[in-house]
Amino acid sequence: MKVFGDTKLCVLMGDPVEHSLSPAMQNAAFGHLNLNYAYMAFRIAIENLKDALVGAKTLNILGLNITMPLKTRVIEFLDEIDQSAQSVGAVNTVLQKNGRLIGYNTDGIGALNVLESSGTEVAHGKIVILGAGGASRAVGHALGEKAEKIIIMNRTAEKARAIVEELNRIYGEKFRHGELTARCLQEELLDADVVVNATSVGMRPHENETLIGKEFLRSDLTVFDLVYNPLKTRLLQEAEAAGAKTVDGLSMLISQGALSFEIWTGRKAPIDVMRDACIKALSNKGESENHG
Ligand code: ATR
Repeated sequence: MKVFGDTKLCVLMGDPVEHSLSPAMQNAAFGHLNLNYAYMAFRIAIENLKDALVGAKTLNILGLNITMPLKTRVIEFLDEIDQSAQSVGAVNTVLQKNGRLIGYNTDGIGALNVLESSGTEVAHGKIVILGAGGASRAVGHALGEKAEKIIIMNRTAEKARAIVEELNRIYGEKFRHGELTARCLQEELLDADVVVNATSVGMRPHENETLIGKEFLRSDLTVFDLVYNPLKTRLLQEAEAAGAKTVDGLSMLISQGALSFEIWTGRKAPIDVMRDACIKALSNKGESENHG
């Protein structure tokens, strides 16, 4: 990466950010297309977010990624919210244009893009989402427009119920919630077409764990695991062995990052270069990672 007097800066703000793959991914993409851009990560405590955004404006920072726990709070400090972020109520990408900060959300479209590009038909059939944190909510919003029947299951059922209520208000009565017990999950999977793991189960250093017994995986199921470290989780390995279509968490991370890249640069993102950079960065780290 070369930095000059007129280099355009993009930054990640979150807490923590040290394990993020975004700097490696975005700088590789800028370098590949010979763009005069650079990407840095800053750990910003939530109480300092307002000052950080005033700073971003003053320093004429062109683009931002916003990650946990700042995605919702950031909205009140922005000048404009794109439609992609309005219904979700969360922003993960900001573009500074003519001194105004414009917020977007690329998480949801990122999830939808990877599912569709794997050849999975999301418009019909039944989708089971495991987990009820920020990742589950983003996927729920992404599928809300298109899918017909979505079940959100969580160990703490109350959290799933709250998300389902919110999603049903926006997208119509398409969502149900359930408690994530082995028995309920087994029943829901019988006629499911897609299952999404939006929990942290299976993430290093607990890579031996999975929520779905391999006897419940079938070749006509798409299994999408948002965990990307390890890249091939136990769930994905067992799904592959059962002949299921699989989508890994890195694809989603890259898909949302590629959309951010396109918002900042107006250029088509070099997906393969971004994926290689992430895999290299992951193999250099090797330890605990979060999804998102
Ligand atoms: P994110 O924002 O990335 O979604 P999160 O908000 O911490 O992360 O959510 C993690 C999800 O993984 C939650 O749905 C959590 O379930 P609870 O709400 O019951 O805590 C789920 N999760 C984590 N460990 C789990 C486990 N061992 N079994 C089942 N679900 C688990």
